[in-house]
Amino acid sequence: MITHTTRGCFISLEGLDGAGKSTHVPWLVDQLKARGLPVLCTREPGGTPLGEQLRQMLLETSMHLKTETLLMFAARCEHVHAVILPALDAGQWVVCDRFTDASYAYQGGGRQLGESAVHALEQWAIPGIEPDRTWLFDVPLEVARERLTRSRQLDRFEQEGEAFFQRTRQAYHQRVQQQPQRFHLVDSTLPIEVVRARLTTEIDALVHRHGSNHNSESP
Ligand code: TMP
Repeated sequence: MITHTTRGCFISLEGLDGAGKSTHVPWLVDQLKARGLPVLCTREPGGTPLGEQLRQMLLETSMHLKTETLLMFAARCEHVHAVILPALDAGQWVVCDRFTDASYAYQGGGRQLGESAVHALEQWAIPGIEPDRTWLFDVPLEVARERLTRSRQLDRFEQEGEAFFQRTRQAYHQRVQQQPQRFHLVDSTLPIEVVRARLTTEIDALVHRHGSNHNSESP
């Protein structure tokens, strides 16, 4: 008998700080598990012991923009090779709280490094690795800021000003325009039940499509 492990599906969630993304991550994981899927939930920067150490530095220590971008990709490279690819190869679905799109948005857009430097690092460190589906939780700036200031002490990114987040949001929107098949935009100003009802429909479609893609490839 030929045993065939179906490759898992790679999902990322993105959005400005305060867009409500984090509320939906555990819910999404539960939804996938309820459909009988094996799920690994992880985050960036982080996801490995080294990545979590880098995360702490990135969120707390002031540094040159190029250093910041390199450290984001160092954490990502470790994460991809040690965690994400092995999990996908073993058939797990991977839900990642932020991935490379966040570098395009925050470093490329927010910090004005530009798209091409981020693209060069992506091509070098993790060529060809991108999510199968990305949900972008989108809210106007004022809403994100309002939600953020209600929360805990702010980290180095969250303390940035309005213009930074305006550019970050714009860069996210540009990513959506460039890759409309991968991104689904979520209007995160809607009530949580409405957002979840819409996501439920999209999750069902994704599970169905991912299953049938693989069925048609099976030996
Ligand atoms: P989190 O608060 O969603 O866990 O993300 C931590 C911060 O790191 C968030 O403000 C966005 C930022 N970030 C980047 O600037 N570039 C990246 O590539 C990633 C993954 C996160």
